[in-house]
Amino acid sequence: MAYTTAQIGQLFPNIMEIKDAALREKVAAVWNEALSLGCGGSGWTFDEIRAIPFTLLAGKIDLRFVEHINSCCKQCIAISAVLGEVFGARVPVHIDYLIAGSLLADVGKMLEFDKNAAGGVIKGHYGDLLRHPFSGVALCFKHGVPVEVMHIVATHSHEGDKVDRTIESWIFHHADFIDFDIAKVLGKQAAATEARDAKDAKDAKDAKDTNDARATKDSGEPKDFKDSKDFKDFKDSKESKEYRA
Ligand SMILES: [Fe+2]
Repeated sequence: MAYTTAQIGQLFPNIMEIKDAALREKVAAVWNEALSLGCGGSGWTFDEIRAIPFTLLAGKIDLRFVEHINSCCKQCIAISAVLGEVFGARVPVHIDYLIAGSLLADVGKMLEFDKNAAGGVIKGHYGDLLRHPFSGVALCFKHGVPVEVMHIVATHSHEGDKVDRTIESWIFHHADFIDFDIAKVLGKQAAATEARDAKDAKDAKDAKDTNDARATKDSGEPKDFKDSKDFKDFKDSKESKEYRA
C-alpha cells in the first residue's frame, strides 16, 4: 500500500497548503507509512480511518478522527491568521511547521489503535505501551521531518506540559483541546440523554403493566387463562375429552 501525496490530500486537504514541497512530501510519507503499519501490521484503509471516532475517551459522540485532524489544522491556520492580523511580526508563526505539525500530531494513533474481534476500534497493546506522541515522533524521525515539527508532535498533549512549548506547539495544543473539551461535553450530553431515554422507557413499561393489571382486575376476568370460565368449559367439553382419549 503506497499512497501518493495527492491521495493523502483527499484525507487532509490542507496538506497542499504546506509551501515547502519537500516538507509536504515528508508529511505524506509519514502518513503513508502509518497507514500501512497500523492495525497490528495489516494496515488501515481510508474508509476505516474515516470511520474511527475522534476519541475513545468521550463516550458516544458523532465526531470522527479524520474530522478532528482537519478541524485542528484549520483552527491553527485561522489562529495564525488572527495573530498575524492583530500582532503582525511581533508574534512570529512558522505556518508550514504549524500545518505539518497539526497534520502529524496524531499520526501515531494509527499504531495506537487496533481492531477487536467484532471490528470495533480499540486501543491496542502498542498503544498501552507507547502513546501516539512517541510513536508519532519515531515515524517523523524516520522520514527526516524537521525538529520544529517533531516538537509539536512530541509536546502537543500532556506529555508536553513540562516542556517549553514553541508558539506553534501552543497554538496546536489549544486547538486540540478545543475539540477534545467539546467532545467531552457532547459525550456527557449523550450519556445523559441515553440515561433519560432508558428511564422514560422503564417508566412507560411500569405504567403499562400497572394499567394492564388494573384493567384485568376491573373486568373481573381472572389473570390466568387456566382459571377462566372459558378454559373450564373447554376442559369439560366433549372435544377435549375425545382429544385426551
Ligand atoms: Fe493527540
